[in-house]
Amino acid sequence: MTRPYIFCHMFTSLDGKILGPYMDTPESDKSGDLFYEIAFGKNRHYDHQGWLSGRTTTDDNFTHYKEPVLETDFPEVPAGDFVAEHDLSMYYISIDASGRLGWESNLLTYRETKAHVIEVLSEKVGDDYKHFLRQLNISYIIAGKDSIDPVLAVKKLQELFDMKMIMLGGGGVLNWSFIQAGMCDELSVVMTPVADGSSDLPSLFETKEGLTEAKPVTFSLESSSTYKDGTLWLRYLVNN
Ligand SMILES: NC(=O)c1ccc[n+]([C@@H]2O[C@H](COP(=O)([O-])OP(=O)(O)OC[C@H]3O[C@@H](n4cnc5c(N)ncnc54)[C@H](OP(=O)(O)O)[C@@H]3O)[C@@H](O)[C@H]2O)c1
Repeated sequence: MTRPYIFCHMFTSLDGKILGPYMDTPESDKSGDLFYEIAFGKNRHYDHQGWLSGRTTTDDNFTHYKEPVLETDFPEVPAGDFVAEHDLSMYYISIDASGRLGWESNLLTYRETKAHVIEVLSEKVGDDYKHFLRQLNISYIIAGKDSIDPVLAVKKLQELFDMKMIMLGGGGVLNWSFIQAGMCDELSVVMTPVADGSSDLPSLFETKEGLTEAKPVTFSLESSSTYKDGTLWLRYLVNN
């Protein structure tokens, strides 16, 4: 059984940043619309069933660093993964090795896209957090001992949620952990013609101590599209 096709789709400044003041410009807004259209628009290029996000990305955009409200007294939590019932066909796959995210709902909205949340936990997460997720009807899978094992996570997403194509959606730490594990087939970068020179904000790929190393990976250019407003859309295959 082959694994799902994984493409990393990211929006960057000219200097490869994925966050920063460059985003507060009209030029960036225009390129951002193209970024959305390619992966989520009506005539989207990619037909994926869900997108993966790192814990920091989820806190920055959706859970806003809220603490999960955990009960101390709860019924026994069945071992293993939990697949919640819902009627959406799009998933937001949240990498959360320690069970830190303070979700308040099992659904989220990104522009016009509605998605059901799946938490990807490691074995070190306690039953109190799993009970918290079950109460919210949030699906979860367990993949990895202390940190997330990308290979096992993708295998479970395929088996339990029938995923055939998955978007690796950042940030830089998550992207690099999947690329280093050989779990990314394609890189799609929408580059806006703006830079802000920030040196302390994350780039497209970031190593994290104890998780990944600065080991070179090469890419083969698949296509390049240029737009009148100066935006570039670059597609590369990862030379795994
Ligand atoms: N421009 C774009 O297209 C774009 C797209 C997405 C995100 N972003 C931005 O990027 C910023 C965050 O990027 P970032 O690189 O700092 O963080 P990130 O990749 O969003 O999250 C990093 C965290 O994810 C967890 N993680 C990632 N891979 C893991 C693995 N294999 N095993 C276990 N845990 C893993 C760790 O969480 P713990 O710390 O809990 O262990 C790690 O600290 C956000 O501000 C977001 O808005 C931009």
